[in-house]
Amino acid sequence: MPLKILITAGPTLEAIDPVRYISNHSSGKMGYALAIESRKMGHQVFLVSGPVSLKKPEKVTLISVTTAKEMYDTVVNLAPEMDIIIKAAAVADYRVQKAALQKIKKSEPEMQLTLVKNPDVLKKLGKLKKKNQILVGFAAETENCEKNALQKLASKNCDWLVLNDVSKPGIGFNSNQNAVTLYSRWGDKKEWGLASKNLIARKILLAILDRHS
Ligand code: CTP
Repeated sequence: MPLKILITAGPTLEAIDPVRYISNHSSGKMGYALAIESRKMGHQVFLVSGPVSLKKPEKVTLISVTTAKEMYDTVVNLAPEMDIIIKAAAVADYRVQKAALQKIKKSEPEMQLTLVKNPDVLKKLGKLKKKNQILVGFAAETENCEKNALQKLASKNCDWLVLNDVSKPGIGFNSNQNAVTLYSRWGDKKEWGLASKNLIARKILLAILDRHS
């Protein structure tokens, strides 16, 4: 039976002024690969995407957002009707407290920005999680990867967590390839070496669907 799968992808952008922003490195390729592979398996896919330069996957409902707050509102609104939610997006943790309405001129030798924390979409989904809903988080780490990943899995009430070690050269971010470790709340641990993001996406989906079938 086709499942309803919500996938988030790409970065969020937080305005400093009308021409500048803060953001994270993220091409969106991993999230889009998950959307394409989910669709190929016959599922109904909702892709909530930050600004990326990727083409819309066929037969997928694409909802484009810019900021973390927009992603939060969109995802929290769609979540109750979803069977699986996969949070591959690189959400900006902070936004500028008060974005300037006009372009800031470089008249001063220094400038300071006050940043305030964005809502944590995944944490909220963990709190709202319905019985039988599957919640999958991502973790981008540069050190203490496994410890941090397992901590995120538990603290955000995820069922599965995909660890990206972003300190390794040639994978993650803008690359077409990735190498990840998948953990579950039941103690599963699956590690996949360098492969295309589409193949990694397929392996992640098959592992998840296999346990919940
Ligand atoms: N995430 C989210 N909302 C945020 C921040 C993160 O939904 N405001 C989600 C990401 O989509 C990802 C997971 O939380 O699925 C982990 O993101 P990551 O950037 O690795 O970690 P953070 O929770 O932001 O923690 P830290 O930056 O301290 O490592």
